[in-house]
Amino acid sequence: MTDPLHKDLLDIAQEAARRAGALLRDGRPADLAVAATKSSPIDVVTEMDIAAEKLITGLIAERRPDDGILGEEGGTTEGTSGVRWVIDPLDGTVNYLYGLPTWSVSVAAEQDGETVVGVVTAPMRGETFHAVLGGGAWATGAWDGERRLACRPAPPLDQALVSTGFNYVAEVRTHQAEVAQRLIPLLRDIRRGGSAAVDLCDLAAGRLDGYYERGLHAWDLAAGDLIAREAGALTGGRPGERPSGDLTVAGTPGVFEPLQRLLEGLGAWHD
Ligand code: IPD
Ligand code: CA
Ligand code: CA
Ligand code: CA
Repeated sequence: MTDPLHKDLLDIAQEAARRAGALLRDGRPADLAVAATKSSPIDVVTEMDIAAEKLITGLIAERRPDDGILGEEGGTTEGTSGVRWVIDPLDGTVNYLYGLPTWSVSVAAEQDGETVVGVVTAPMRGETFHAVLGGGAWATGAWDGERRLACRPAPPLDQALVSTGFNYVAEVRTHQAEVAQRLIPLLRDIRRGGSAAVDLCDLAAGRLDGYYERGLHAWDLAAGDLIAREAGALTGGRPGERPSGDLTVAGTPGVFEPLQRLLEGLGAWHD
């Protein structure tokens, strides 16, 4: 680790993710209910999404008051330092609401518009992933201590295990279901984990060969995208573009391009 700013940002991101993860794990009310809905009746927010974001934004404001923040639940401020934090305080809210274990806290820091630090913690798995630009991707886990991540060697696409997700807006998910239906016979199988950040970290950890989704926001993918890339995966959007709300595609080298071409052929980002 050479850049002292990156080290400082990593320390803060790890502390914020750890504390928010503990709050979510230990503070989940037994009678947790939906507090509000957003883009559609199934796009839900709980009091815990909001509490986790407040904890993270409060910590950042205390440590680095001049930084900007983009938080899913509205904890957004302009900054003057050139650093902006991109936060998903609870990625996988629907899993969390139902008591399913796949959910995470995702904290990324950008410097002059480029993601330089990403931390994703998945408390029910006992795992935390992190990456610093140029420094590789790392995981600490209950299973195997700290280890450097490397995505797996690419299989042919018809033997690739690919994860995806579905947007909350009815027309978008209907189209996504049609694309997935046409994709399944061309792959080993499809997974739908429920946390985009965990999907990208699982790709980094060699547990998936690819991932794609339409309709993601910056907070869903900022940290996971850096972690996947630092583990040797390729990520993008529509051909020649960076990942975006139109399309996010990620894969091991060898799976990424064929998957992106296939999705293009299936019109994955059209209505
Ligand atoms: C969602 C999760 C899910 C993905 C959705 C996201 P949220 O984030 O990442 O896996 O399929 O597109 O919106 O709302 O649980 O933070
Ligand atoms: Ca949400
Ligand atoms: Ca999310
Ligand atoms: Ca969220």
